[in-house]
Amino acid sequence: MCGITGFIGYEEAAPILIRALKKLEYRGYDSAGIAIIHDEKIFVRKMKGRINLLEESLVENPLSGQAGIGHTRWATHGEPSDINSHPHTDSDGSIAIVHNGIIENYIKLKQWLQSRGVVFLSDTDTEVIAHIINHFYRNGNGAILQAVIETLKLLDGSYALAVVCADYPDRIIAVRKDSPLIAGSGAAGSFIASDIPALLEYTHDVYFLNDGEIAVLYRDHIELRGNEGEIILRATTHIDWDAESAVKNDFPHFMLKEIFEQPKAMEDALRPRLKKNDLNNALNNTLIDFDEIKFDENWADARRIVITACGTAYNAGVIGKYAFEHFARIPVEVDIASEYRYRNPIFNKHDIFIVISQSGETADTLAAMRLIKQNGGRVIAITNAPGSTLSREADTTVYTYAGPEIAVASTKAFTSQVMCIYLLALELGRFRGHIQGGLYQKYIAALSAIPAQARQILDKKEVIQRFASRQYNKTKMFFMGRQFDYPVSMESALKLKEISYTHSEAFAAGELKHGPIALIGADTLVISFATQKVLFEKMASNIREVTSRGAASLVITWEGGDFFDTITDETFALPKTEDCFSPLLAVIPAQLFSYYCAIQRGNDPDKPRNLAKSVTVE
Ligand code: M6R
Repeated sequence: MCGITGFIGYEEAAPILIRALKKLEYRGYDSAGIAIIHDEKIFVRKMKGRINLLEESLVENPLSGQAGIGHTRWATHGEPSDINSHPHTDSDGSIAIVHNGIIENYIKLKQWLQSRGVVFLSDTDTEVIAHIINHFYRNGNGAILQAVIETLKLLDGSYALAVVCADYPDRIIAVRKDSPLIAGSGAAGSFIASDIPALLEYTHDVYFLNDGEIAVLYRDHIELRGNEGEIILRATTHIDWDAESAVKNDFPHFMLKEIFEQPKAMEDALRPRLKKNDLNNALNNTLIDFDEIKFDENWADARRIVITACGTAYNAGVIGKYAFEHFARIPVEVDIASEYRYRNPIFNKHDIFIVISQSGETADTLAAMRLIKQNGGRVIAITNAPGSTLSREADTTVYTYAGPEIAVASTKAFTSQVMCIYLLALELGRFRGHIQGGLYQKYIAALSAIPAQARQILDKKEVIQRFASRQYNKTKMFFMGRQFDYPVSMESALKLKEISYTHSEAFAAGELKHGPIALIGADTLVISFATQKVLFEKMASNIREVTSRGAASLVITWEGGDFFDTITDETFALPKTEDCFSPLLAVIPAQLFSYYCAIQRGNDPDKPRNLAKSVTVE
């Protein structure tokens, strides 16, 4: 969704704001703008379209000043246009704001302001905020901070907000409620941004603002305040992400880079959780040990695991269902967070709750987590984002350690989530007595080999690239599989539709004859995952059913066999692992296929139309 940033310091603000906005591009946007304070005046430049347009305009006609705010807008209220772009100002142009979120009661506030003679320029909900701040500023004691505090009391909805006032050129005021915002100071000055990658170039020590907290940025320090203006003393959090991890390096797109980072991401999720057993028991020489999680009586007594998430994280959760039920023999319910939060779910004191989110900021996922907590549940979060709202509000956080994921289409976050889930499921299986010594070690050895096997798959990327160049213009593309291959099909279909804009669907292969087969024809490609050996025969029948109706076919299966070769146009062979771990490998060719289809169709896979990286509003 929208990205916001701000800078006040010792250098020209405009280029710094533009660089930060580029780092937030992945969030999705349709327009961009900045406001700079100079000589106690505010200068705004904003326009529909890509940040490059704004940058070019600033090269032609620079805005000078060492303080300012910036924004990338993802339209919600009012079409993408120059006027609706942020920043928005009050009527006399002395206060400018940028906003991420939705002001739910803006119509009422707008009517109130209009009745007082305020003229609106845009169709946005945001503009009311600038005018209300002006109202309190002009009718109050002239203290901008107090005017912001009074304004916040009138706003319903979600916001991350940054405010500059021409009369206060020495500060930026920033505040959040239900939308992410971080603040940090470095040698160049003080910064705010919607997300960590925008600040890594300048500082690794940041404040994650809590709901209702206000950050007042000065060039050499940041003051944290509560919602009544009271000073809050808190240490910064150190982020050990490498600034390099947020740049493309030699890759044409972040998505491809992140697909290629998966061996490392999975390794980073795995290694810290594997410990040598001090007893040096040959049968049990490596143990899974999550520092974050103690397997205690709650885990022993658990009767159900409830997993909730959205999008790709939900698909990881479905793999979790198969994994926990397979290894730990405990029933698992997986729910889409937006459904879970409204469907009056049943809570039980013997439930374990797992909430998965790459960003830790997805609105529906956070709402589901809060609902669980209100009902007395303890939440284990699986997230990639240190300091995210999810990680701060959950009772326990398991970090995936995938590093920043910039491309909208999630890849390395998914495989690292799945790796964490397998480790949890395996350890729970051991703890509850379902997996013993030799088998447990065999599984750990198999997981440890996955990163190297993922590299072998990536080395064959041309096979998929060639296949995509032949098939990218099929009008329908389906993915099917059984058991662990079904959630991989779901994730593959999501990836493909996100970036190639091809109609794609996933189905459990057993469902083929219950409906989807009606769609199969010569304009169709079916990609089948066939990694569950006991189901090879059944998959072979399903594949024959689609190819005999004219569909093109790719089968993703284990290397070393020719079981499917005669019934499919193409086979992609995966290095062998345990069947139950196949999702970690099988998804990679599907990710590559989506990427190359997007390239063939002339789409930018990093910035797919209509999508935002982090869905921070409902
Ligand atoms: O940050 P989260 O994991 O909570 O995001 C959930 C979904 O919005 C996300 O996975 C989305 O489906 C991705 N674009 C998938 O590639």
